[in-house]
Amino acid sequence: MNERSAGIGQVGGEDQLAQGRVQLRSKDTWIPDGLGEVSRRAAAEGVVLLKNEHDVLPLSGSAPIAVFGRVQVDYFTVGYGSGGDVRPPYSWNLLDALRADPALEVDAALAERYETWCAAHPVEAEPEWGTWPRSHPEMPLSEADIAEVAARTPLALVVVGRAAGEAREQALEDGSFFLTDDERTLLARVGAAFERTVVVVDTGNVIDLAWTRDEALDAVVLAWQGGMESGRAVVDVLTGAVPAGGRLTATVAHRYEDYPTHEHFGAADHNEYVEDVYVGYRWFETFAPDAVLYPFGFGLSYTTFDVRDVVVGRDGDTVTVTAQVANAGTHDGTEVVQVYVRAPHGLLGRPARHLVGFAKTAVLRPGDVTSVEVVFDLADVAGYDDAGVTGHRSSFVLEAGTYEVLVGADVRAARPVGGVDVEELRVVRTLSEVAAPRPEHAFERVVARPGEHGLAEPGVEKVPTATVARRERVLAGLPAALERTGDVGIVLGDVAAGRATLEAFVAQLDDDELEALTRGDFTMDSPLGEPGNAGALGGTVASLRDKGVPALTTTDGPAGIRLAVHTALLPCGTALASTWNPGLVRELNALLGAEMAAKGSDVLLAPGMNIQRDPLCGRNFEYFSEDPLVTGLMAAATVDGIQGAGLAACPKHFAANNQETNREHNDSRVSERALREIYLRGFEICVTRSAPRTIMTSYNKVNGVWAHYHHDLVTTVLREEWGYTGAVMTDWWMRPATDPDFPALTNDAYRVRAQVDVHMPGAWHRDDRHGDGSLLASLHADDGITLGELQRTARNVLRLVLSSPRASA
Ligand code: BGC
Repeated sequence: MNERSAGIGQVGGEDQLAQGRVQLRSKDTWIPDGLGEVSRRAAAEGVVLLKNEHDVLPLSGSAPIAVFGRVQVDYFTVGYGSGGDVRPPYSWNLLDALRADPALEVDAALAERYETWCAAHPVEAEPEWGTWPRSHPEMPLSEADIAEVAARTPLALVVVGRAAGEAREQALEDGSFFLTDDERTLLARVGAAFERTVVVVDTGNVIDLAWTRDEALDAVVLAWQGGMESGRAVVDVLTGAVPAGGRLTATVAHRYEDYPTHEHFGAADHNEYVEDVYVGYRWFETFAPDAVLYPFGFGLSYTTFDVRDVVVGRDGDTVTVTAQVANAGTHDGTEVVQVYVRAPHGLLGRPARHLVGFAKTAVLRPGDVTSVEVVFDLADVAGYDDAGVTGHRSSFVLEAGTYEVLVGADVRAARPVGGVDVEELRVVRTLSEVAAPRPEHAFERVVARPGEHGLAEPGVEKVPTATVARRERVLAGLPAALERTGDVGIVLGDVAAGRATLEAFVAQLDDDELEALTRGDFTMDSPLGEPGNAGALGGTVASLRDKGVPALTTTDGPAGIRLAVHTALLPCGTALASTWNPGLVRELNALLGAEMAAKGSDVLLAPGMNIQRDPLCGRNFEYFSEDPLVTGLMAAATVDGIQGAGLAACPKHFAANNQETNREHNDSRVSERALREIYLRGFEICVTRSAPRTIMTSYNKVNGVWAHYHHDLVTTVLREEWGYTGAVMTDWWMRPATDPDFPALTNDAYRVRAQVDVHMPGAWHRDDRHGDGSLLASLHADDGITLGELQRTARNVLRLVLSSPRASA
């Protein structure tokens, strides 16, 4: 590992994370009852069937299966980094899961050959941080080898595997986004030699899937990474024990170059989000329908559905879509009824379709009929005017016209079923300009121009840039100080029991105690928390603990609890989202909450909810979707599950953290409209529906300001507009900076002014066990941080602490 020198300007998050990697200390393999089973169900429901010619699936068990591809043994159960660094008590690869199913038979000689070869060519056990393999070399097999197996059985299954992760983008290379020559050869030879070939793709990211059109490949199953139950979940779907029913939450294009982000992703210094609101299917459906290989929302079933009697009702601003869903085929199945809206083009220009709701049926048997209902609010289909073209700058507006409602099994298949008329332009929310691009960073963004045949054409316009005087905005919001009382004997338990107010408790705290609440206990694996923790916060000093403030243990997330003990490894975020089943995600996370309680995690650093802007982003596997509604609903379900169990969730990374390359320094340059309609929208849904107790900012800058200093995002939007009252923490380690509008504020003072309450894990370098003094130095400087601000942040943090069972223990 590279050691970097210790100056504040050279803080090395990657090094520090590597240091925080968990060392296994316990052999205890207990996990809550039901967690394995629900995890398996969730992983299975997230499997997306992309192709199923000749009804080769579900497997009938009539022929032995010849299983090819070393990933059957060395299965990728999750991606890399903090979001995957879990030590599960067990893990099912595909080969073992196939062999464990009594109804299936695996070609034993081939399986043994793979096992022997994999044992002789092991994958690296502990690669260095950020250098993990994106794929594993294939076992060479000649045409004759394959023919020999094909002579024994007509049915082949080929497994292809990929992983990416934190600090490790997916690359436009063979063995990452693309297949390797060995994989291409294997697929070609197996496809030619066998009567039927099924392919399982084990990946956390969308990869190139153009090869799946090859006619020799009969079925293609996009399995994602299903955690410790991966293998069994895939087998459940292959056999039909769980009917194939996952749906894509991101578009698969024919070529990487078809994504509108392809020239604006991965730059070291900054990326201009030129595609603006036209992210994912919003781009493809509006401008480039022919570039789509598998549309957003797509996934096959083993049966067919008849969606009928669709009715669109309106009561004021509430729109209700109801339908009957009948299983019209011969197998069990689940259907996801997706509702999209096509807004009038108006002056803003709008995506051709955007998702406004969905409903998933229970398993329907052949002939079963059920009814579904999707409700949405007209305000949710409004567009944000950041340029003033409608005459209502900084407002969400519904332009006049018909809002066409479309229903279908995916974005492309959705058909018009009715419409909602808006007679004249309506302003649904008047806000203020936030986080707009700086004038010196202006760029051209895509706008939709009316084109021929009802299709839009992409045009460009200059992005509106910032006009707000930030200093005045900040000063207008400074809170008054509570009059200091000194220690009058109130402990936090008194606040928890309603015997004292939080304000009275905070009024007792001295400068050092207030400072201690604004940071963690300096280090990962804090001695104040459970071994292997990501850091501790709250009662980080003895005088706070004497006043009854416990230290809270934070742990990663999202795919399980990252501690020094065995913990369940859950399906990755994309797999969970692909279930389109928020109820199941809630159920899973409630069990995860029970595991947190048993193992001493107070705060799970999850869900990961950045938008999958580009398929190459290394952490896409942790995230849910290219769509903010799917993202927001899945995140809210996660938070509800964990918090319902009494623990805290910490949605992350707020906001616009869409790549890993140079992530601590990169600037996401994005219009305010795209922020509000896409990148902030998922967080807004999550915050307003599920009230997470804490939120993590992102590493990157958003229009020139590091997220951990972003007053506009954290104070104006998150707290003032959305009513958020919990704590906000940084992602691990900050970048030093001085507030351009308040030169007396550097580093921690600049951060606390924004109400980014807690610096995690708290020091400025991994070898340090202390802060840099910047917060209290500013308290005593002219034009510095105020006592009222420190006390406000103390209240934000203590609200999180009070929500923990430890506060009243
Ligand atoms: C990641 C976070 C994670 C934190 C603590 C950071 O590098 O970006 O998602 O929660 O480390 O492990």
